[in-house]
Amino acid sequence: MKALKISENVYWVGAIDWNVRNFHGYETEKGTTYNAYLILDEKITLVDTVKDCLQEEMLERIRSVIEPDKIDVIISNHAEPDHSGALPFILRHAPRAKVYAVSPAGEKDLGGYYGDLPVVGVKTGDKLSVGKHEFAFVSTPMVHWPDNMVCHMTPENILFSNDAFGQHYASSTRFDTDSDLPEVLKQAKKYYANIVQPYGLQTKKALEAVSSLQISMICPSHGVCWTKHIPEILARYQRWTAGEQEERAVIVYDTMWHSTERMAHALETAFVDCGIQVKLCDLKCENNSDVITEAMQAKYIAVGSPTLNNNMMPNVASFLTYFKGLTGNAKKFIAFGSYGWGGQSIQQVYDALTQCKAQPLLPPVRQAYRPTEKDLEKIAGDVIQALEAQQ
Ligand code: FEO
Repeated sequence: MKALKISENVYWVGAIDWNVRNFHGYETEKGTTYNAYLILDEKITLVDTVKDCLQEEMLERIRSVIEPDKIDVIISNHAEPDHSGALPFILRHAPRAKVYAVSPAGEKDLGGYYGDLPVVGVKTGDKLSVGKHEFAFVSTPMVHWPDNMVCHMTPENILFSNDAFGQHYASSTRFDTDSDLPEVLKQAKKYYANIVQPYGLQTKKALEAVSSLQISMICPSHGVCWTKHIPEILARYQRWTAGEQEERAVIVYDTMWHSTERMAHALETAFVDCGIQVKLCDLKCENNSDVITEAMQAKYIAVGSPTLNNNMMPNVASFLTYFKGLTGNAKKFIAFGSYGWGGQSIQQVYDALTQCKAQPLLPPVRQAYRPTEKDLEKIAGDVIQALEAQQ
């Protein structure tokens, strides 16, 4: 396990988590990395650490460059344990190091997790010279925790952005230029949708705060570093944080005996007839985090569930809980479903969606038993009428 030199005095000393597949509910089908960076100067500096289970891997990479007891400064851009988990371990090997974290949120979070650590609080505008290099700190609260900050290092103009611009993407490559760029951009979008999306406003402010900085490289805490493709990722973040919507619909459903599925296809027909692109997501086949990514920029969302024991289907409830937590911009919605008796699920889905900043396009669309062709035509016709009425 060796460090990788990424610029004249900067080494990547993170860890690659090839096998992680669930990051508190987010399906990480490509694994991830926890990035940490070592800067060689008069004061040896480490930016962030890794998840505790990979702390030995990180130490080995540091040791391939210097002895860890030479580390003077550890910058903790974010206290979430995927970046701070190895901090107590590293401090045992770097006993003279001071930890720099945002004040007061970073100090509080690190204290809450690890007790008494040698933490120095910093605020936006504070600078730290470590010799030839200087770090400028910019607090970026709620991108996506209260304690988040980024730091900009001169003279190389490297932005250590922590979670911002990251991707859950495990690879042996460290740069956008030697990676599968379409996959990296796809994972960056999925990351934004599943981690950052609810904090678009705060992220927009953070983008403004760093817009005046010269940046030659963005080093996030997950995935690969941005070099040649910085304009592309910044442009995407600008669009995402602006809440730009596309004239698209995502139809999310589960079905027991295909009746709700038939309704989903009737909705599909209606959207297509109105010239609106559609993606159907059967929750037995799709995971929540991919559906959230699909839905992020879609103007319309339709959610369907049959009634099971007076309730919606468990995976529809799971999706709606996840969706509620990640709601970014307002959407138009349709709640639909079939039932044999009772039929409570449709109103439950409707009520849940109203709590997600969404506006109904139609009243709940209910169908007793199996919809006939005539029923399906009526459902499609009602949707077309509602779509046309709003234009
Ligand atoms: Fe990658 Fe918010 O931790």
